[in-house]
Amino acid sequence: MNATSSPLFAHGRWLVCKPKDYDVRYQINPWMDLSKTPEKALAASQWMNLHHHILRLGGWLEYVEHAQGWPDMVFTANAGLVRGKKVVLSKFRHKERAGEEPHFRDWFHAAGYKVFEVAKGAFEGEGDALFAGDTLFCGYGFRSDRTAHEEVAALLNVKKLVVVQLQDPRYYHLDTCFCPLTPKLALVHPGAFNASDLALLEQSIELIRVPPEEAVQFVCNAVVLGTDVVLPSGCTATYKALASRGYTAYPVALSEFIKAGGAAKCLSLKLDNV
Ligand code: ARG
Repeated sequence: MNATSSPLFAHGRWLVCKPKDYDVRYQINPWMDLSKTPEKALAASQWMNLHHHILRLGGWLEYVEHAQGWPDMVFTANAGLVRGKKVVLSKFRHKERAGEEPHFRDWFHAAGYKVFEVAKGAFEGEGDALFAGDTLFCGYGFRSDRTAHEEVAALLNVKKLVVVQLQDPRYYHLDTCFCPLTPKLALVHPGAFNASDLALLEQSIELIRVPPEEAVQFVCNAVVLGTDVVLPSGCTATYKALASRGYTAYPVALSEFIKAGGAAKCLSLKLDNV
């Protein structure tokens, strides 16, 4: 069935991975602290709540099985980047995540996608590459390489590419500090970018700036379903800013995933970019 044509699932499909072996067992970003590991039962219920919100607000979900021994596989935004029936798979920067690649590859093959990979360098999928209409916004500096983004854009026939450098290790993926709401409007944490790259973003899309104390709660890491936005809890200034632009915020508690450096967006991969 074509989920996008269903009135019940009007916002398209996302790939998710139900946490079966989720944990913090290594440190590859500043959020991960081996002395603050996630509480498993709470993580499971937070994931389920996010899952229910996406379904209730008109998103269709597809599932990839969580492979044992790859605790970060729940962060499916890092599986790759999809456009139409093509996917460019991730090539992870760190060996700690590289073992996820064959599992994601198998899923995309089985789902009938034409599967591509970058020839050189690291690329971490939708974590660092976000579509806003026809424009692909890309971040580099920590996980993905600048040259990889150029290759991805060519593979997916992207006409307009905006590439910016990430400068704060806490915001190591673009989706931790930037979130397109429409082709013309995005949430941004200005502190994650240098002045010239912030200006570059601003020339391409109107920006709603989030306060730093909400950025640090991962407020930019949001799942957008039309005018409904599912995002981390505790960020009232951003919810108000969204409301003033006609959006409804649906806060969900994701504390156990923030311990690994991810939240709502990281836990889902958009499957219907046109
Ligand atoms: N622990 C994971 C990592 O460091 C978190 C990934 C978050 N994903 C994202 N799209 N920002 O790779």
